[in-house]
This record gives sequence, C-alpha cells and structure tokens, in this order.
Amino acid sequence: MSKIMKFEQYADFAAAEWKRAMSESEHFSLEKCTDAEMTAVWDKMAPSYDLGVGSDFRRVGHAIERLAKLGAFDPDTIALDIGSGTGAYALKLADKCRTVYALDSSAGMLEILAEKARRLGLNNVMTIQADWKTVNLDELPGRFDIVVSSLNTGIKDYETLVKMNSVSRGFCCYVAPQGRTYHSSRPDLQKIVFGRELRAAGGNDIIHPFNIIYGMGYRPELTYAPCQWSKEETPEEALEAVCREYGRYKTIDEALRERLRDYIMANLNERGLFTQFQKSTVGIMIWDTRLVQ
Ligand SMILES: C[S@@+](CC[C@H](N)C(=O)[O-])C[C@H]1O[C@@H](n2cnc3c(N)ncnc32)[C@H](O)[C@@H]1O
Repeated sequence: MSKIMKFEQYADFAAAEWKRAMSESEHFSLEKCTDAEMTAVWDKMAPSYDLGVGSDFRRVGHAIERLAKLGAFDPDTIALDIGSGTGAYALKLADKCRTVYALDSSAGMLEILAEKARRLGLNNVMTIQADWKTVNLDELPGRFDIVVSSLNTGIKDYETLVKMNSVSRGFCCYVAPQGRTYHSSRPDLQKIVFGRELRAAGGNDIIHPFNIIYGMGYRPELTYAPCQWSKEETPEEALEAVCREYGRYKTIDEALRERLRDYIMANLNERGLFTQFQKSTVGIMIWDTRLVQ
C-alpha cells in the first residue's frame, strides 16, 4: 500500500483508527450491557454524579471562555448539550444563551438537571430525553448555534460525531479525555474482577474525533483543562457503586461481591469512609461548522 494518503481519505482513516482504538480499549469493548441497561446504570449513577467528575467545573469554564473568545454568544444564541448529564455545561450556558436544550438518554440525569435549573431560577433550559444514536433529527427544534458534547459516551464513533456536526449552524464543542487517567482504586478493582488490569488503548481520547473533524476540512482548535475529583462514600455506598460499575462487564455473584467488600473494608480512611480519587486532563475541541475547506 502506498504510504501517501490523499487528504480526502484522511477522515475515513481517522474513523477506522477510532474504531480500532475503541475495540482495543477493554474498558469499552468488554462491556456486555445493552443500551437500555446502560441507560439504567446512568439513572442509578445520577444522584452521586456531582460528587465525582461532575464536581470539577474547570473544563466548563474553560470551554465557555473559549467559545466567548470565538464570538459564539449573542442574545439569540440557541444551544444543544448532548449527553448533558446533570447539567455541568447546560446550566452554565443558560446564563449566556436564549435557550439551552439538554439532551440525555437518562431520565435520572435530566430530573436532577431540571431540579437544579428550577433552584437557580433558570427558565430557559429545556430537557429532551433521547438516545443520540437513534434520535430523529426532525424531532429536534431545528439547528443550533452551539452544540456541546462532553464526556458523552453516546458520541464515540464517526457516525454519531458527524450527526453532532450536522445539527450545528455555528459552533461545536467536543470534550473528551486526553492521555491517561489516574484512578486511585481502579487497577486494584480490575485485578479483583478480571484477574488483571484492563488494556487501555485510548479509545475515548480526543485525538480521534479531532483527526476526523480535521480530516473533514474544519479547523478545530484544541485546548486542555485539568479534571480532578475526590469522593468519600460509606462502605455500603462504595460497594453498590463498584458493583454497578463492574456489573457492566460481568455478573457480580456473591463470592465476587464479598471480595469487593473485603477490598473496600481494608481500604477505609480514618473516618471509616472509602475514598476514590481521579486525575486526568480533558481536551476541549471547538470548531466553526461554517468554516470548511
Ligand atoms: C459522563 S456523563 C457526562 C455529563 C456531562 N456532559 C459532563 O460533562 O459532566 C455522560 C452522559 O451521557 C449520557 N449518554 C450516554 N450515552 C448517551 C446517548 N447515546 N444519548 C444521549 N445521552 C447519552 C449519559 O446518560 C450521561 O448522562
């Protein structure tokens, strides 16, 4: 095969690379649950989401600052946040936009988002419960000036990324991890559940969607923000959370549950709580969909 690739072929090459990286990233490829089961997992995670990654707003402030610098906001701006979760972006965007639509497949996440909007007195945030993979675009309220997707496992391939791009009449902002993520207990827990650490091959790294968007002829900017959280849970809460997480891969029988409980009990802090800590960097990619070569 020739080593010289035509630029027009680059997006296809990048799409294939993303697929390969996903299939080699066991954290994704070993998941056995259906989309509906995964939505149920997000529903259960919703009440504690803001204790973990949802507690670090630096990535949100950073993205909004970059969008503002690029001139993305005016009083008529309509935004869509795909995979909004509990509203990290949607609720902050609401201060700068006429209307923000928060789309998520998890009713549990959207309930929390709507309650937070009520408490903040925001009446310009609308929720849409839908799966991004299957939602009929004709059912959305038109196209949007800003379309955001952050840490959204619903946009993890070429098709869903192109779908995101297609609903924007202005800017898109895609946020995903960059490089390796450190997690205080994940390696130990993986050894208990799988007998080994899972292979990480950067399936969710920002480089893959970046290469596709670049290959499609856009000129995305890519900047970075730190993302770090630490949470303490009672042993019972921690065990439930760990079983939920690893239940995505295999059935947690009594024996495995006991081993996970033993690990948690052996690692409680001085207040009798189980601490989890995660440190990563996210890439924040923003492109103007009107500027294409
Ligand atoms: C890690 S959370 C991110 C939440 C928020 N965007 C943030 O940055 O904190 C991922 C969210 O994506 C949602 N999600 C996953 N797959 C989805 C899909 N196919 N369609 C819509 N939402 C999806 C989940 O329900 C969850 O709320």
